[in-house]
Amino acid sequence: MENLYQYAYLSCIRPEVSLTRVYEIVQVSRKNNRNANITGILVFDGWRFFQYIEGADDTVLDLVRKLRQDERHHQFTELLSTPFAGPRLFRNWSMGYSVTADETLLTAFTRLTPGEVVLRIPDLVDSVDLEP
Ligand SMILES: Cc1cc2nc3c(=O)[nH]c(=O)nc-3n(C[C@H](O)[C@H](O)[C@H](O)COP(=O)(O)O)c2cc1C
Repeated sequence: MENLYQYAYLSCIRPEVSLTRVYEIVQVSRKNNRNANITGILVFDGWRFFQYIEGADDTVLDLVRKLRQDERHHQFTELLSTPFAGPRLFRNWSMGYSVTADETLLTAFTRLTPGEVVLRIPDLVDSVDLEP
């Protein structure tokens, strides 16, 4: 049995990063995550990212280190960081990706406890149009 870990954060895109670059991030993430057996979602509202990732603890924590250093975003705010028993929330998505125009959607996440974040992820998926 793998030791599973789940992690979620909010960040802001750096203003000089274009939307084409965001799509590149998604493409690279899908490929890397498939290889690392990481699953999760990324929601972008035009200026903020919400990302949830899950997988083996060492691979998730390695990715978090890279994410924290990635200069394409800043104001990195951790929302959830914990080992968990599973099952995974996203078994089939190496990185589901969605763009939303609803700026209130992600704001709601800034006020939640880690436990609430986990509970709200399914609602988030329902309210955005995710590409698997
Ligand atoms: C908002 C955001 C989300 C990202 N999500 C992922 C991800 O899920 N998986 C991933 O491998 N890289 C992701 N990245 C990119 C990593 O920060 C890093 O550039 C990449 O993992 C480096 O891959 P490489 O070592 O194969 O070059 C993301 C970057 C940003 C800005």
